Amino acid sequence: MRVEPALASRSDFPILDQQVHGRPLIYFDNAATSQKPLPVLEALRRYYERDNANVHRGIHELSNRATAAFEAARARAATFINARTADEIVFTRGTTESINLVAHAWGSKHIQAGDVILLTEMEHHSNIVPWQLLAQRTGARLAYLPVTGDIGLLDLDRLDEFLTARVKLFAMTHISNSLGTINPVAELCTRARRLGIVTLVDAAQSAGHRPIDVQEMGCDFLAFSGHKMCGPTGIGILYGRQEVIETLPPFQGGGEMILSVDFHQSTWKHAPHRFEAGTPDISGAIGLHTAMDYLDGLGRTNIAQHDQELGAYAYAQLSRLKQDIRLFGPHIGRAGLVSFLLKGVHAHDVVTVADLFGVALRGGHHCNQPLMRKLGVESTARASFYVYNTTAEIDRFVEILGEIQKFFGVS
Ligand SMILES: Cc1ncc(COP(=O)(O)O)c(C=O)c1O
Repeated sequence: MRVEPALASRSDFPILDQQVHGRPLIYFDNAATSQKPLPVLEALRRYYERDNANVHRGIHELSNRATAAFEAARARAATFINARTADEIVFTRGTTESINLVAHAWGSKHIQAGDVILLTEMEHHSNIVPWQLLAQRTGARLAYLPVTGDIGLLDLDRLDEFLTARVKLFAMTHISNSLGTINPVAELCTRARRLGIVTLVDAAQSAGHRPIDVQEMGCDFLAFSGHKMCGPTGIGILYGRQEVIETLPPFQGGGEMILSVDFHQSTWKHAPHRFEAGTPDISGAIGLHTAMDYLDGLGRTNIAQHDQELGAYAYAQLSRLKQDIRLFGPHIGRAGLVSFLLKGVHAHDVVTVADLFGVALRGGHHCNQPLMRKLGVESTARASFYVYNTTAEIDRFVEILGEIQKFFGVS
């Protein structure tokens, strides 16, 4: 047993202080969504109690306040990932919408029949399906950089073979949501960029877990979701390098994104506003601003270290079950999550019984169906950690897995 206390104060997260099925809640479903700290809840409440109004169009005091807070959140997102300017930050509903935006706006301008869009075999469905739809619209083709079996690393030795002259875009996840692999995205972007290939990084699992510097990474696009990093649901970010996004056509049409509308044609605002049709998620942006401040208060380097310690500890404890468990993802250098299968027990049964013990896990294909098929499984059970989790919770979780084995008569 080792003691790694929570990094954040657990009292900042009132939701954790409850019993589920008569047991203290252990929340290990953070890769799906994180819990929200009190400062974020208070920022949402303050906004609706004092400042709520629509942004950009108003001249009255409340609208000015709401606009200032919304644009301050954009500027904060720029510093959070070290974008050069707030004009490189587009507010979206989340990672999924950010990637769809690129597939439509960038894809419609730059992709033609015969072009190749390079992905990896460990992508989430939201970094596969938008590209499939684009390929169907244009006659382009998808290619996948392989993953090396249960250990879950990208086969980097084969990268040159995949970076052919036909590849126009390379879209890759930073951290795999089902394997816990941390990909060397700066190296991947540099190698692609040398060949004139545009890059997109899916930072859904990394933005709230480690420092992100888009200039150092050298990506053209980066996508992430507020709800996985202590922020509200319904808000996300697309970073687009200025030289790339300012030349793109709109994604959706409507109010807010236009300069002028005539009966038969319209002109657009400059980026990022060109990509934000309709009333945005104002409170979401304000909550996300507070979430970014909260995470930087903890220190993202500290968060990355805490994640890695919990991930490594969980992996080591589960490895002691030897032939009774199949573990997925790298042995060392993993993110703060573990995916596993208990021998003789379906992943959904593990999750259902763990819930009766107060432990929130996730079981299924984790929106990684092609990867699951490649690994020869339908699903895995997954425990994923965040700033409020502790090694004591992991010890309890491992004990509960022992109970589950007894329950199903497999130990
Ligand atoms: C790696 C990865 N990409 C994309 C997504 C999609 O995020 P959202 O549902 O917030 O758009 C997720 C969500 O689990 C994810 O883990």
